[in-house]
Amino acid sequence: MNNLEQTLSIIKPDAVERNLDKEIKEIFKYKGFNIVKEKKIQVTKAEAEQFYKVHETKPFYNDLCVYLSSGPIVVMILEKDNAVLENREVMGATNPKDAKDGTIRKKFGISIDKNSVHGSDSVDNAKKEIEFFFKD
Ligand code: CMP
Repeated sequence: MNNLEQTLSIIKPDAVERNLDKEIKEIFKYKGFNIVKEKKIQVTKAEAEQFYKVHETKPFYNDLCVYLSSGPIVVMILEKDNAVLENREVMGATNPKDAKDGTIRKKFGISIDKNSVHGSDSVDNAKKEIEFFFKD
């Protein structure tokens, strides 16, 4: 049965800085995702704090928000059957050291912080994250 979903993907500053955004988008397209909307932006630290609010009690929260706001990012709405789960598989484990061969984080990730991409972790969060970046 078809289960068309949308999820939010972010190409993080470490990847944009290394000009990997085009190559990462090609991977998503090759894996069957439709890039419905995309934009290159730079968020403020306050916006990063709002975006990552679910992590506000974590010890890495401040560094994470400083990092996300440190340079340009590419935010995208990806669409495919089971997009949320499929995107997480294409990205690989949060820590590039644990990511499987062939995943984006294994290929491009530098560290758990500079792990090149973010993807929504549930259908509910995907809706919230898409709304956060693409209100209109
Ligand atoms: P992301 O999928 O963007 O969601 C939150 C981010 O926090 C995560 O990727 C990592 O880059 C970062 N992070 C830093 N330290 C940790 C940690 N110990 N556990 C999970 N995420 C972490």
